[in-house]
Parts: sequence; C-alpha cells; structure tokens
Amino acid sequence: MDRVVLNHVTYRYPIAEENALNDVSLRIKEGEFCSIIGANGSGKTTLCNVIRGFIPKFYQGDLEGQVLINGRDIAQVELGSLATEVGFVFQNPFTQISGIANTVYEELAFGLENMGVEPDVIRRRVEDVLRLTKTEAFRDRNPYQLSGGQQQRIALAAILIMEQDIMVIDEPTSQLDPQSTDDVFEVIKLMKDMGRTIVLVEHKMEQIARYSDHIIVLDQGRVVLEGTPREVITNPDCAKYHTRLPQCTNIGLGLKKRGVDLGELPITTDEAVGQICTYMGR
Ligand SMILES: Nc1ncnc2c1ncn2[C@@H]1O[C@H](COP(=O)(O)OP(=O)(O)OP(=O)(O)O)[C@@H](O)[C@H]1O
Ligand SMILES: [Mg+2]
Repeated sequence: MDRVVLNHVTYRYPIAEENALNDVSLRIKEGEFCSIIGANGSGKTTLCNVIRGFIPKFYQGDLEGQVLINGRDIAQVELGSLATEVGFVFQNPFTQISGIANTVYEELAFGLENMGVEPDVIRRRVEDVLRLTKTEAFRDRNPYQLSGGQQQRIALAAILIMEQDIMVIDEPTSQLDPQSTDDVFEVIKLMKDMGRTIVLVEHKMEQIARYSDHIIVLDQGRVVLEGTPREVITNPDCAKYHTRLPQCTNIGLGLKKRGVDLGELPITTDEAVGQICTYMGR
C-alpha cells in the first residue's frame, strides 16, 4: 500500500513570486525509508508541510494537484485526524517543544496525556522511549535548557512515542555531532524496523546511502531524480543538484579516472572496503 501519494502537486506561498513546488508527483510505500535531498530552498520543507497537511490547512497560498495520505485525499481530512497518522519533527527543534512541560519526562508524556492514554501505559512508553533514544540522562531537565542537539533527540523521542504510521523528519541532525548523528539514524532505523514509513530530509549522504530505500532529489521545487540510493548516487546528474556524493563514491570516481576500476561505484564505506580488498586480492 502507498502511504503517501502526490499527483501533480504545485504550490505557491501567498506572497511568493515563484512556485515552491512544481508539478511534484511521488509515491512512498508502507514501511519505506524515503530520503528527500536537494539544495537550500529546493522545496524540501514545503514538501514535508504538504505531507502533514499544514499546506493548505495552515499556510494559505495556491495548492494544485492531489495529496493522498493512507489513501485519503487530505482536502477531505481534518488536521487533527491527520495528526494521528503523521508524526513530524521540525527543522528547528526549539519550535517543537511544547513550552508546557517542566521536564523532558513530562514533555514526552504530554502528547499521550492529550490522547487520554492510561497513566501506566504512559509511564511504560516514556521509559521505553527514553531508553531507545538514549535520553535517560536528560529526563529531569527542562527541555528549554538543553543544547540544540539534545533538543533534536527529544523531538525525535516525542514522535517515536506517538506511534503514528508516517514519520516526517526534517533535518534531524543539523545540530548534532557525528556520534549523535549516528545515534539519531539508529533511532530512525528503529522506527523503520517497527514498520513505520519514514520521510527524511537530510544532507548527510553517507547515512542516506546506508539507510534509505528510496531517494528523491528536489531542485527548484521539482523532482529531478529518484530511485534507490544506488540509482540516484551513481547517476552522473546527481552532483548537479548541489548534493554531495558520499566520500567513498568520490574515491571510487577518483580511482576510476586513474584507471583503477573497482567495478560498481561504491556508495557505502563497507562496499568500498569490500571492493578494494577484492581488487587487491585479499
Ligand atoms: N512561509 C513562506 N513564505 C514564502 N515563501 C516561502 C516560505 N517558506 C519557504 N518559502 C520559499 O519556498 C521555497 C522552498 O523553501 P523550503 O523551505 O521548502 O526549502 P528547503 O529545501 O527546505 O530549504 P532548506 O534546505 O534551506 O531548509 C524557497 O524559495 C523559499 O524561499
Ligand atoms: Mg528546509
């Protein structure tokens, strides 16, 4: 089943002169890990806002085309009902914090309390999520007094706990150091392993190549390239759209130029190591 379908979606913000999205058609299947990449201003966050119904429910402007979430046209769905199906992590984690809770623990419990979940169940789920996201150390801290990176982890924990089917995650690692970035990808992978559908906006190509099932490249509001990580990353056009290739792919390209052909271009470090070993007869 397709969780997210866009048919010829074009959108322009109220006072903007250009379309933020231009004739975008795409499908994201149940359980798929789909990454959206592209330059600053290419329309990634706008696309996220379409998928979670904020366009056109909050943002005015002209929206053309059709958006189906779990098979239902969002034009006919209430935002409240959509919120039980789509979880969202904002690009800026600071804006995600409720402002109501005094501690991270309360922050995580907040969404479930609103849904009228039993206190025992809330306690168990908060404990589970604190453990899974390695945020136990912050449980009694005020969410506003955390660093940007710590807030990003709490924002992820706060949607993990809600158990929606579709997770839309906009640049969750922008403020994170390498170790925390890996931790966040592990949490997102965990969400995928739980059967959730992931729509991730990211720039970190190493991790995108390793974890995604599907990549969509946006340029000036258009889908210009899509496919498996291998199809997209090894497409010579990929680098044109202000996307960086994984380092190992660049190394593969550099070696090829010098006449060293490893076979297929590597897109992950593990692949590169395997190919170099084979090449060297080890
Ligand atoms: N609220 C808004 N009103 C008017 N124009 C907007 C608004 N938000 C975004 N835009 C414009 O829409 C286009 C797409 O913006 P969007 O935020 O979706 O890009 P993005 O790919 O997420 O960029 P970034 O990588 O910087 O986060 C840009 O040209 C931007 O200036
Ligand atoms: Mg953005």
